[in-house]
Amino acid sequence: MNPFEPQLRVPGPTYLPDSIREAGSRQMINHRGPEFARLLERCTSGLRAAFRTSGEIVILTASGTGGLEAAVVNHLSPGDPVLAVSIGAFGDRFARIAETYGADVTRLSVEWGRAAEPEAVGEALRAMAGDGRPARAVMLTHNETSTGVTNPVASIAATIREEAPEALILVDGISGLGAVPFETDAWGLDVVVTGSQKSWMVPPGLAMLSLNERALAAAGRATMPRVYFDLAAHRTSAEKGQTPWTPAVSVFFALEAALDLMEAEGYPAIFARHAVCGAAARAGLGALGCELFADPAHASDTVTAAHMPAGLDWKTFNAALRQHGLVVAGGQGHLAGQVFRVGHLGWVGLSDILGALEVFERVLADLGRSVERGSALAAAARAANGTQARATNAVGAPG
Ligand SMILES: Cc1ncc(COP(=O)(O)O)c(C=O)c1O
Repeated sequence: MNPFEPQLRVPGPTYLPDSIREAGSRQMINHRGPEFARLLERCTSGLRAAFRTSGEIVILTASGTGGLEAAVVNHLSPGDPVLAVSIGAFGDRFARIAETYGADVTRLSVEWGRAAEPEAVGEALRAMAGDGRPARAVMLTHNETSTGVTNPVASIAATIREEAPEALILVDGISGLGAVPFETDAWGLDVVVTGSQKSWMVPPGLAMLSLNERALAAAGRATMPRVYFDLAAHRTSAEKGQTPWTPAVSVFFALEAALDLMEAEGYPAIFARHAVCGAAARAGLGALGCELFADPAHASDTVTAAHMPAGLDWKTFNAALRQHGLVVAGGQGHLAGQVFRVGHLGWVGLSDILGALEVFERVLADLGRSVERGSALAAAARAANGTQARATNAVGAPG
């Protein structure tokens, strides 16, 4: 923690370790030359391992939303029946993209704060088939950043494969990949999207996608309009070690440095670190009397949403936190003013969470709440210890 900088505890953009920040400030190279070809290959192969896929990786110069748009327009045609499973603001956004491009979208909207249930997804797919509109694709959010909920993607995907074997599974993995266990191939996911400014500890600017054989076959038939996000153009250019349009070269430099760091730490250790931070954040906020928003069975290890303390408005609370150098996120959509969100993804460790909780404690006490000083830190440390022990056991397992 740097005492001269505010603590950035939003769910992306996330902190940049020094080696990544320095990499991003390197001199430019020719994006049509051999240096960029090597950089693209390094980033692509590193991401392939991180996504746990043998499929294709495409890196777009865009924010995550651009990646979602690419997932839609490259694999669907206007009029295609699509099931959009939404558990929050980002699930709604994914659905809206498909609607905008003319897909025939059926929304399965789950109460915010809860995860989608595989049975409900199966039922929705059966209903669509019964209507003579079998789903061509199912759109899912892995980690819903607006509510702090992680969907059980493996079991939802298994249900989709049973009920609608032909449907493509398109996953918004923007705020979960690289922080929590995720298996693109083993779970049978056809298109997965993530964004550089989240767990990857890289500035905003790159959307990264994986595509399997089924996705590539669907792309050959899909007729939605596309130019900038035409993934076929990206795949053709990639054969020459290039991108079709000028890439955000600096962000690629940063991504390369991030993959070096992540591979050195190892993904099991990264997942364990996020599990510890998530458990600590939830326990600490709970000890301060902040009611957590997410169903505890599906609470996210990258972002925690909590209800605003009773009688306190977001503007006052946020201003007080900022005065103590803590920057958190507010609520989105209808949760604006109702919840606040704490990000714990990317370059984050237990001491960062304890530091943030100390500010929460101080601010709540200053604002007249009865908080027992030290209780949040003690609860967080206890939760972290329990989680660390479990994580260490899991990580220590052979294989
Ligand atoms: C789950 C999820 N989906 C989509 C997005 C949109 O990404 P971007 O803001 O990079 O376009 C975000 C960003 O917060 C996200 O968390």
